[in-house]
Amino acid sequence: MSRSGNGRLLLGAALMVVCGAAANAAEPGYYGYGVKPTTEQIAGWDIDVRGDDGAGLPAGQGSVQRGSEVFAEQCAACHGTFGEGEGRYPKLAGGTGTLRSERPEPTVGSYWPFAPTLWDYINRAMPMPAPRTLSADDVYALTAYILNLNDIVPNEFVADQDSLPKVKMPNRDSFIWTDPRPDTMAKPCMNACADPAAIKISSTAEGRNLTPRTTGPLDTMQPK
Ligand code: HEC
Repeated sequence: MSRSGNGRLLLGAALMVVCGAAANAAEPGYYGYGVKPTTEQIAGWDIDVRGDDGAGLPAGQGSVQRGSEVFAEQCAACHGTFGEGEGRYPKLAGGTGTLRSERPEPTVGSYWPFAPTLWDYINRAMPMPAPRTLSADDVYALTAYILNLNDIVPNEFVADQDSLPKVKMPNRDSFIWTDPRPDTMAKPCMNACADPAAIKISSTAEGRNLTPRTTGPLDTMQPK
């Protein structure tokens, strides 16, 4: 190992000593700063809505008709009256069947797998200049309107915490929900996880000139 590598190790060890000392001085579990958040403060952050089953959707409801009114006032300037997108602002409708083409158009209708995610996105991020200003009812109404623009729900659809998770999005089955790679299925192990005698190093990068020894413009970076 190089000198600078050792230096970094030493610095790391010194930092651990300092942190250890600070932790010892304080009461267990108490770090000497911050305050306990109130239930209201936690509720303000805890706004996520789960896509597949809509867990976290609040009470409230909104119709396609109401959504068209709010959309015209607060969204159409950027996204177009029918979700066609103004200028370079994103389209919210259309694009069906384009995902495998040269110019794919991913939209709520052509790409998104879950309707509750649309509620979550609008609720946390839109309208772009003033996020978190819409009522739950208006977010439901906007969600219903955008789904209707994509011909996913009928004109009389009313979005609420029961109806949204039941909406089947057109592209839902194109998403792969299980990842078969072995490293995604590793079981957590806390002790005696591997027999050290069974571990064999079968290959190393050493001596293969894989890492340039100098840094600088590309033509000076050839390994010596
Ligand atoms: C000032 C322009 C503006 C306004 C007004 C606006 N948006 Fe957006 N919207 C954007 C931009 C820009 C993005 C893309 C943001 C990104 O990708 O990070 C976006 C993204 C979205 C998306 C996600 C699109 C996708 O497929 O990724 C949705 C849904 C959406 N907006 C809904 C709304 C709704 C509903 C309103 C009205 C309440 C609204 N927006 C108002 C600019 C705007």
